Amino acid sequence: MRSAWLAILGLLIVVTGIAGIIWTVSSRAPAPRTTVSTEYTSLGARIYAGGVGEDGRSIPRTTIGPGMMGGGCARCHGIDGGGGYVRMMGGFEAPDIRYSALTSPHEDHDGEGWSDRDIRRAIVEGVEPDGEELDPVMPRWDLTGTEFQELLDYLKELDRR
Ligand code: HEC
Repeated sequence: MRSAWLAILGLLIVVTGIAGIIWTVSSRAPAPRTTVSTEYTSLGARIYAGGVGEDGRSIPRTTIGPGMMGGGCARCHGIDGGGGYVRMMGGFEAPDIRYSALTSPHEDHDGEGWSDRDIRRAIVEGVEPDGEELDPVMPRWDLTGTEFQELLDYLKELDRR
């Protein structure tokens, strides 16, 4: 008889313990969001914000310095594409890469705006229209045709924000 009571008591302790654990876990305040949402409105947005391509994997890229931390274009060029001073690894200036900025008269291109082909070359090969290499801090992105097109559409969308 006594052992039956002990068993019930033991069971009660276990049940209370489990309930306690569930309560603690579920009542904990959600952790602050340090990463951008993984649900994007388009592939272009996903590449821009997270560097994640068509196949759901990280787009292959060269990485020197800050680029090694992963992520997408937003990490350096800003969530709005406007660029600015990036306080990472000594700090550097990232240019405005909204479509209007890239296609408006550029000092690196005899005062002409970049064509879509120029933009692709800069992003994929890291070469400016005048043949000058971009700083190695800017990763070279191995984009597929679709990925580039979607990214370009997103750079246009950033203009409308
Ligand atoms: C780790 C930081 C970093 C990331 C990430 C990055 N960039 Fe850059 N990007 C730069 C820097 C720095 C430059 C300027 C290089 C220079 O002037 O030589 C640059 C230059 C460029 C340029 C040339 C613009 C101009 O006016 O000269 C384009 C276009 C560009 N980036 C697009 C992108 C896109 C698209 C992505 C994402 C797929 C991206 N970048 C991700 C740092 C970055």
